Amino acid sequence: MAKAVRRALVAGNWKMNGATAQLKEVRLLAQMLEGVRLNCDVAVCPPFTLLSAVSRVAAKAGIATGAQDCHAEASGAFTGDVAAEMVKDCGASLVIVGHSERRTLHGETDAVVKAKADAAHRAGLTAIVCLGETLEERKAGRTLDVVSRQLEGSLPSVALPADTVIAYEPVWAIGTGLTPTLKEVAEVHGHLRAELARIAGGQRSRGLRLLYGGSVKPANAAELMAAGDVDGALVGGASLKASDFLGIIKAYM
Ligand code: 13P
Repeated sequence: MAKAVRRALVAGNWKMNGATAQLKEVRLLAQMLEGVRLNCDVAVCPPFTLLSAVSRVAAKAGIATGAQDCHAEASGAFTGDVAAEMVKDCGASLVIVGHSERRTLHGETDAVVKAKADAAHRAGLTAIVCLGETLEERKAGRTLDVVSRQLEGSLPSVALPADTVIAYEPVWAIGTGLTPTLKEVAEVHGHLRAELARIAGGQRSRGLRLLYGGSVKPANAAELMAAGDVDGALVGGASLKASDFLGIIKAYM
């Protein structure tokens, strides 16, 4: 199956940034995309506090929204947590699970990430499952082993193209301005594609999208997106300003 059958996704992860004033960037993005025929899906993942408001603005422009995390349970005594069902109720259609900042700062294991991805599906959301190696792991030549282990452990019970997206985000490339070479990106994505066929089954896995994330900017987006088996981008810092984010989306226009 050719790469072209997978519609690209460019998703912005705002992380813990933005208050109400940040809504103007979504309005601006919606204006900029008005009447534009895109060759990709576009999504914005704001903090929980802005999810409903961003969803209302974004929906009018065909921009999807997502949360950056969810709890595995649908409800209960989990102070401070947010269920996938609540994310859906805010008008979102996606949720990022297993971001390296959650894995590192909140001790999320592959099993926890898998439970969250399953919860996303239970709620009718698409799960964006993140994985990626640390610099230490890369230097030790363990990158492919690490991403295989993360993929196998974090993939939801059923992973279909319509409900699951994989995001490869090398930890050392996040927020650092460093990016892997195109050869390195293609190597990991090619490996993940083969591993998906092994784990999830050939037919089914071919349509799953593999995003690259880590210091994606307007200046390097087209180049990174052209690397083998890259079906879009998960963008952090450069998704906060509509003009920068549009610059990345343009790699697909
Ligand atoms: P940056 O684009 O800021 O490097 O962040 C990437 C990321 O973590 C997206 O989830």
